[in-house]
Amino acid sequence: MKRVIFSIVFLSVFCIFSCTDNKLKSITPGKIWPDNNGVHINAHGGGLLFQGGIYYWYGEHKIGGKAGNTAQVGVHCYSSKDLYNWKDEGIALTVFPENSGSDIEKGCVLERPKVIYNALTGKYVMWFHLELKGNAYNAARCGMAIADNPTGPYQFVKSFRPDVGTWPINFPLEKKDEPVGGMKSFFGGSSVPQHPDSMNIVRRDMDSGQQSRDMTVFVDDDGKAYHIYSSESNSTLHISLLTDDYQDYAGKYARFFSGRFMEAPAIFKKDGKYYLIMSGCSGWTPNAGRSAVASSIWGPWKELDNPFQGDDANTSFHSQSTYILPYPGNNDRLIYLGDRWNPEDAIDGRYIWLPIEFDGEQPVIHWKDEWKLN
Ligand code: DGJ
Repeated sequence: MKRVIFSIVFLSVFCIFSCTDNKLKSITPGKIWPDNNGVHINAHGGGLLFQGGIYYWYGEHKIGGKAGNTAQVGVHCYSSKDLYNWKDEGIALTVFPENSGSDIEKGCVLERPKVIYNALTGKYVMWFHLELKGNAYNAARCGMAIADNPTGPYQFVKSFRPDVGTWPINFPLEKKDEPVGGMKSFFGGSSVPQHPDSMNIVRRDMDSGQQSRDMTVFVDDDGKAYHIYSSESNSTLHISLLTDDYQDYAGKYARFFSGRFMEAPAIFKKDGKYYLIMSGCSGWTPNAGRSAVASSIWGPWKELDNPFQGDDANTSFHSQSTYILPYPGNNDRLIYLGDRWNPEDAIDGRYIWLPIEFDGEQPVIHWKDEWKLN
């Protein structure tokens, strides 16, 4: 009898524990992803930082409706030890009140925040794409904020355009004096009236600094950091070296994929080679992914194929790249992180995380309804 009672008690306790274990144990791309409070994670266009055994996920905090396409709150941060279960760490960078005159006042466009840790200064450095309030996507600036802790609070330092008065290292010297062609100021899909190389857009933006929209940052094995961004009216990708404290431009940059209108750059390094996964340029509407490989970050970059394969590959599975994350403890295995935007109800944007495979040097991404890191 004692044995029966013991078994019943044991089973009840076991059931209570196992039934209340509501921890997530897999990744389900495109589904609601609840945080520790049961609320869908709100960190769009995001990037991750792995520091002290903890993953930090930074992204755009969106609100409901179309208003969520502008920054109403700031940059949201979450933390996790297993990449499945995320704890809400609150707003890491808060936008300033309306009419405060700050570059990052409520209603600006603050997109694609990425955080890197600088070992020399001990600071966490956040970079993001900034458009000034009420000026559509014309400012084409980057913004920078710093913090003493990964979760913040981040102090906004400045917004600016990269590499004022500097020519790219791979710009043909004989073309520097060529006139600026076509329209003086424009932005968009493929609105450049002729090939950007015949328009000297770099010269157009020499005094203001080069345009910087969709972006990411990357720290190489030697500790050098790079800002990678859509420039020249989005027609061309620029890669700029940052200063040793990661808080400014070092005065060295190069331009790639001229006329290819690449957005949403996400970079990783594998077997000594650099890889980019990007998108085309079609606003919030998804398009076919792009990929490229190089032996040096300074190029030459070789464009590869659309990494997405299977049904809906031409929309990147209704997603747009934002970050590439190595598997825990294995830098050779990689995870694609993308956004499934919902511009009509921005807060309902979903996250598309999928493992990256390789066919030779071609990164390949297949759809999975559900998958585990092992
Ligand atoms: C596509 C970009 O990748 C997003 O970050 C955002 O800027 C939208 N365009 C705006 O249309």
